[in-house]
Amino acid sequence: MSRKPLIAGNWKMHGSLAAVDEFAAAMTAGGGIAGVDMLVCAPFVYLERCVRAFAGSALAVGGENLAAAVDAGAYTGEISGAMLADVGCSHVIVGHSERRALYGETDAVVAAKVNAAVAAGLRPIVCVGETLEQRDGGEAEAVLARQIRAVLEACDAQTLAALTIAYEPIWAIGTGRSATPEQAQAMHATIRQQIAANNGTLSRSIRLLYGGSVKPGNAAALFAGDDVDGALVGGASLKAASFMDIARAAT
Ligand code: PGA
Repeated sequence: MSRKPLIAGNWKMHGSLAAVDEFAAAMTAGGGIAGVDMLVCAPFVYLERCVRAFAGSALAVGGENLAAAVDAGAYTGEISGAMLADVGCSHVIVGHSERRALYGETDAVVAAKVNAAVAAGLRPIVCVGETLEQRDGGEAEAVLARQIRAVLEACDAQTLAALTIAYEPIWAIGTGRSATPEQAQAMHATIRQQIAANNGTLSRSIRLLYGGSVKPGNAAALFAGDDVDGALVGGASLKAASFMDIARAAT
């Protein structure tokens, strides 16, 4: 791992005010981990509480989604990047597979959201990944290439410089069945090559996170891959102890 690792939690639709405070207490007691960036992405309504509660720790805070629209306006129920930045978020997850599958987010919507995030001063973490059917059909690389190309083509160099990509094979998310370290490294190397074909500098600097059933027990082996620069952690990010153990595995 030659880039500074980033360990990002994705709480999804989990949590409560009490859970935020409990997590914060454990983090502040444990302190930061030198050489590792740490981030928690939480539901919108808890973000401001996270920012306050994590203020004494090394944890950054991010949203799990944002509106594609940049300007404020008549978009009932939407939350803009500017609003996330306003409450203290530094990052935002874009195009998680659950949003692509359950809420119809297309590659074009994902690219628009990346632009909206960076316009608001946020650092987007774009999720890409294939289904089991696509992997078994030998299409995994083509799926990733399509998802990544949509972002590369829609964003300028300054926007891309703010980007992190999370490779999350859909068959590994929430299933307990992580990709093997070899599978993760191979796919990360493929992603880096795909980016290199477009932008050599970016391909060397961009952080590629692995996501999908990352736990304290498998994190170190996954992070051993040269092109694996950290993790996007779902279930194991809900408890500070397991989240910290994963972050420690990145040192
Ligand atoms: P998981 O989720 O760690 O619970 O598999 C990862 C994700 O969906 O980001």
